[in-house]
Amino acid sequence: MTGMNFLSLIESKRDGQTLSPDDIQRFVCEYVTGKIPDYQMAAMLMAIYFRGMTTPEIAALTTAMRDSGDVLSFPKESRPVVDKHSTGGVGDKVSLPLAPLLACLGFRVPMISGRGLGITGGTLDKLESIPGFKTAMTVEKIIEQVQSVGCVICGQTERMVPADKGLYALRDVTGTVPSIPLITASILSKKLAEGLDALLLDVKFGCAAFMQTKEKASQLADSMVTLGNECGVKTHAVLSDMNTPLGRTAGNWLEVKESVECLEGCGPDDLRDLVIECAAHLLLQTGKSNSIENAMTQAATMLASGAPRNKWDDMLLAQGATLQAFQRKLAYDSTAPVTTELRATRSGSVQKCDARIIGEIVRDLGGGRLTKETIINWDVGMDQIAKPGEQVQIGATLARIHAADKQSAANALKRLETAFEISEG
Ligand code: URA
Repeated sequence: MTGMNFLSLIESKRDGQTLSPDDIQRFVCEYVTGKIPDYQMAAMLMAIYFRGMTTPEIAALTTAMRDSGDVLSFPKESRPVVDKHSTGGVGDKVSLPLAPLLACLGFRVPMISGRGLGITGGTLDKLESIPGFKTAMTVEKIIEQVQSVGCVICGQTERMVPADKGLYALRDVTGTVPSIPLITASILSKKLAEGLDALLLDVKFGCAAFMQTKEKASQLADSMVTLGNECGVKTHAVLSDMNTPLGRTAGNWLEVKESVECLEGCGPDDLRDLVIECAAHLLLQTGKSNSIENAMTQAATMLASGAPRNKWDDMLLAQGATLQAFQRKLAYDSTAPVTTELRATRSGSVQKCDARIIGEIVRDLGGGRLTKETIINWDVGMDQIAKPGEQVQIGATLARIHAADKQSAANALKRLETAFEISEG
């Protein structure tokens, strides 16, 4: 395709016309091989942002992006290949306990995850707080570990979905991230490259979510579910609230600790409930259960059996972690140099615990990235977070801050006051 031809496609999309699957497939390929410059692709992305895409156009974009690199292929056998993808939030550590739970339920789980950017945490950053744990793996190693252990959580290889790497970076700097067709293609191209039989999408809504309203989250969920199913993967979506952090921790290592608690039968109810709900939907989607009620019981029983906790250790060992060092680290109350607590200034019921403010504070403590180059601090964050609906007494802890130094702890404490509202009485 010459530059002039791509110009005419940009003009067509700008004028609201539909692009053919062939044209879409060709321009994705030309972009990945460097024949279309970023400035022209940026114009196309903006045209798509304003004009949208039809379902066949999104399907063509998604499959072209998926096929821009390696696609995983697993040996045929009885265990279905499944994954869960969350659109991201604060304290969302569901993937960590879910992967070993699914492996114990008889699934194969190639969970290819991402890093955090902005206020939403990334599964890879959390796992890298475990001594020795490696998230960079080859395609061959991913397949081998999924076949033997049952689950892997790792990063995308260099050769997987290169189109998304380029397009996502460009969207990030051209104001074209919040577009349903572009998000759908970006997320699904990566998930479809995992060679899945079934996919569960956890689409977040609320003040700390990508989609702030339930309506927008529902539109995104519909778009992804339709397309996932059209591409031959049994796809279902749940919508979940991200006005308040999930669980009682936010911050990389603190979230790993809470995930281990969940695997050990304790930990917060909202985390446990969402882990079980995700597993149950996948049991239903793959025909391993005949009703959501039975599936919930099956998943809850397996979680309570302790087998997923052992499977977690197997996964850690397979990915290079040192279990003794991990156990030692778990025993520390805090691995950050400074801790401080926000205390309730009156008794009453917690009305608000704002996930966006908490996400921003954790990011600014050093637990998240402002740019892709930021080196994150795994040990900072928050725990003991009080949740809406809970009764607190004056002086009770509303959250505990883990910081790198006294100054950042003091700054965080000041800002944290604005995250909570407590009603009288
Ligand atoms: N996550 C992705 O992987 N892609 C998007 O476009 C948005 C969120």
